Amino acid sequence: MRELAVVVGTRPEIIKMAPVIRAAQGRFDLHLIHTGQHYDEEMSGAFFESLDLPTPDDNLEIGSGSQAEQTASGLVGVESMLVERDPAAVLALGDTNAVVSTALAASKLPTKFGHVEAGLRSFDRTMPEEVNRVVADHVADFSFAPTDQAVQHLDDEGISAGVYETGNTIVDACRDHAPMAEERSTVLTDLDIAGRDYVAATIHRASNTDDPDRLRAIMDALDTASAPVVLPAHPRTTSVLDDIGYEPSGSLRLVDPLDYLDFLKLLDNARVAVTDSGGIQEEASILEVPCLTVRPNTERPETVSAGVNQLVEPEDLGDRLETLLTDDAERAAMTGHPNLYGDGTAGEHIVDVLDAQV
Ligand code: UD1
Ligand code: UDP
Repeated sequence: MRELAVVVGTRPEIIKMAPVIRAAQGRFDLHLIHTGQHYDEEMSGAFFESLDLPTPDDNLEIGSGSQAEQTASGLVGVESMLVERDPAAVLALGDTNAVVSTALAASKLPTKFGHVEAGLRSFDRTMPEEVNRVVADHVADFSFAPTDQAVQHLDDEGISAGVYETGNTIVDACRDHAPMAEERSTVLTDLDIAGRDYVAATIHRASNTDDPDRLRAIMDALDTASAPVVLPAHPRTTSVLDDIGYEPSGSLRLVDPLDYLDFLKLLDNARVAVTDSGGIQEEASILEVPCLTVRPNTERPETVSAGVNQLVEPEDLGDRLETLLTDDAERAAMTGHPNLYGDGTAGEHIVDVLDAQV
């Protein structure tokens, strides 16, 4: 059987690669590589268990570090795996340092590189993720683009060979697991909150956490909301909040990162979502939860054009959130586009292409 290597490094890659891994099982000899960029049980190991994924065959244990350190360690580690195993193709997903390492390593070897979630652009090169996306797209042999617009971005940059519009695997992941989450997760009872009565929030983007004044302004806006706000805090966020001694005293509840089924249930039953996450902008649109994204731009502009996601700056967050919490019509106007990212068959589609081409 042909070998297919799959590289993951962080929480969202594990979640969004799960449908591809499942679709490939039995059709390819899978070699699952974890770069180890995320390593806490609640940011990594827990997802393999709850999504019933095979344990990675190799963990490169690159851990935390600067952009260059993570990229360089990943590059050396992935290269040595690809040289040793010589798979027919290697896949990586999204825009993390694991992706750029894999793209660069594969591009100088016979192994074909497939970029899952190709063609996204924020057009903001101050984001390390934007640099990673652009580099990965320009060396990919297969570009699995989630939307028309992503295909167009690739075309605008002269990339048209090997491009397949597949939808986004987040739809597969979300649709497969939302009913399971509804049935199995006890998160609402555990947190003593009632459906549609609270805000689900996450903040982890470096542009928000690395500026303590900005982070404090976001937290203050959430802490003064008129409904409970549950924020499962990424370790990056917890670390800065600890450093600046931030203690919420109002509506904001900082909790540990949640398992995927718990987070899906929390999001699915929220009145409003507030985030700077890429994946959660997508999931909120799929689950039809109005979303406020605390960023000046997004590589998921289809959510904004469809009216289900709004970009806000920290100084406007409190007012905008309050309007959405209290105005049923405003909230209703921000739902109704659950299919922006495809029909939930992206994983199968990607594996079908590879099956035919490698
Ligand atoms: C990375 C990705 C980002 C993605 C996010 C998903 C890049 C450039 N960024 O950002 O695109 O949205 O993952 O969550 O690849 N830490 C822990 N335990 C862990 C992991 C991280 O304590 O298991 C802490 C460390 O202090 C670390 C910090 O979080 O320095 C940041 O982690 P890192 O993986 O560098 O970046 P993320 O912000 O997670
Ligand atoms: N998520 C989770 N537990 C949490 C917070 C988020 O399982 O406590 C999931 C969420 O459902 C989404 C993914 O993690 O699928 C998003 O990851 P993150 O926001 O860290 O990264 P991004 O998508 O911004 O790259």
